[in-house]
Amino acid sequence: MDFELQDLGGSQASALAVDAWVVLWPDACGPVAAEAPASGPLHDWAQDAVAQHDIGAEVGQCLVAHRLPGVQARRVVLVRTGAQSPAQIRKAVAAAWAALKSPAPARLGLYLGAVTGPALQAAMQALADASYSYTTTLSKPKPRQLQHVVLAVADSLAVQGAFERACATVQGVELAKEWANRPGNHATPTHLATVAQQLGKKNRMAVEVLGPKEVAKLGMGAFLAVAQGSEQPLRFIVLKYQGGAKHDAPVVLVGKGITFDTGGISLKPGPEMDEMKFDMGGAASVLGTFAALAELQPAINVVGLIPACENMPDGRAIKPGDVVTSMSGQTIEILNTDAEGRLILCDALTYAQRFKPRAVIDIATLTGACVIALGSVRAGLFSPEDELAQHLTEAGAAALDPCWRMPLDDEYAEGLKSNFADMGNVGGRPAGAVTAAKFLQKFTQGLNWAHLDIAGVAWKGGQAKGATGRPVALLVQYLLDEAARIQAQAPARDSAPSPKLAAKASARKAHSASSEAKKTDKAAKPAKKRKGAA
Ligand code: BES
Ligand code: MN
Ligand code: ZN
Repeated sequence: MDFELQDLGGSQASALAVDAWVVLWPDACGPVAAEAPASGPLHDWAQDAVAQHDIGAEVGQCLVAHRLPGVQARRVVLVRTGAQSPAQIRKAVAAAWAALKSPAPARLGLYLGAVTGPALQAAMQALADASYSYTTTLSKPKPRQLQHVVLAVADSLAVQGAFERACATVQGVELAKEWANRPGNHATPTHLATVAQQLGKKNRMAVEVLGPKEVAKLGMGAFLAVAQGSEQPLRFIVLKYQGGAKHDAPVVLVGKGITFDTGGISLKPGPEMDEMKFDMGGAASVLGTFAALAELQPAINVVGLIPACENMPDGRAIKPGDVVTSMSGQTIEILNTDAEGRLILCDALTYAQRFKPRAVIDIATLTGACVIALGSVRAGLFSPEDELAQHLTEAGAAALDPCWRMPLDDEYAEGLKSNFADMGNVGGRPAGAVTAAKFLQKFTQGLNWAHLDIAGVAWKGGQAKGATGRPVALLVQYLLDEAARIQAQAPARDSAPSPKLAAKASARKAHSASSEAKKTDKAAKPAKKRKGAA
């Protein structure tokens, strides 16, 4: 599917050869078209329908018309967008697509008028999300019905940056969805490594893949322990995107890559166990984020770490009570083999130390307890660092991919005590998402660290079973914001007497800088093309 951004007024839109239009209509006065006054059959019809109250004002209300006189497209859906906030736009676009989707048009226009950047992004991401379907392992994989989307806006230059960010984010989200959706036998650790290696061919990207031997040599005893019950060899995937200055500290993203989680010897119950193919959702989100970085080429260094393996019951599998030595040297009593995510992540977090990163964020479908705590609306965010937590919260809010900060009091670590090792790998049932985070925290000394528990948001169950691609949008937004913050700090660093002082001064500067949107615009490189494929 590709997006095209066009300056189109009402009359030009009416004449455009698309199969259908979605006309977005806010409360105030309707989209302001490029021509003044906005006119043309499409615009006039919509204006009249609203004026005559033939459509309600509630966000998502739709009015469908067929063969409007003077309009080339055969179908038109008018949809109400309220105050045109990104969240309202998302809801409206989803409603309009529901009214259009069977049969789905191949060429669709979105009539947006004088739309803001964030609203345009929301519209593009909502449409991509609603029109996505997984087909890879069907016997007759069908190409996507929706092929081409024209975004008719009043001022394309004003929203060019937002358009490019949305195109890249959609690509990243769809890569994450695709790989998370693939069944465990079609998305092994080796497959994930191949995906990373493809990304590694892109501009400013490098990828390194380690196998069992190298991982053993590094001393990743916890990661090895989880993988030892599987016939599939583990992979430790290292992705590097070098968009910043050579010696600039990178942001490290660590994605949990359990390609299937049976629970191991602490076997999971049968019902819905198939959904544990999504247990590499964190890894998929790291791959998706790197795909977006490859498109946007922002001025920042980013490292992606993916420990990937299966968690299987087997004669060689780890048993409850086994004690293993992590790469950090700390020993762990594996009381429950189903708490495997933290075992593979702890070694990846230790590995992250070598990059002297500016921040480390791990992303993991870590606990059922997080699903109970926050459901499928917000991811759990755990960090002892207020500033990092705030930046991630803000990025999630801006990208409509929200998270919610959870506590990390030391008392929560009580249950991790063991008589036979430095720690156990489980606490008790209470606050299970927090004890999991406390476990990880033991491997983050000196790091500016945050943990995102995406167990509730990475996929949907039931009828709409499938991956969501979350939190790619949050991560892309965060990295672009971070690139802007780095850039805002650069002059202060050059002129200040000591690096420490400079860091403090520039941190203050970043806080007082203008809107996030502006900063992000500066950080992304200007591109000439106005077409984006997804
Ligand atoms: N991958 C699961 C977490 C999970 C479970 C995500 C259900 C989404 C839905 C993880 O590896 C796991 O099994 N966690 C255990 C931890 C427990 C044994 C302390 C859990 O949450 O039950
Ligand atoms: Mn598990
Ligand atoms: Zn798991």
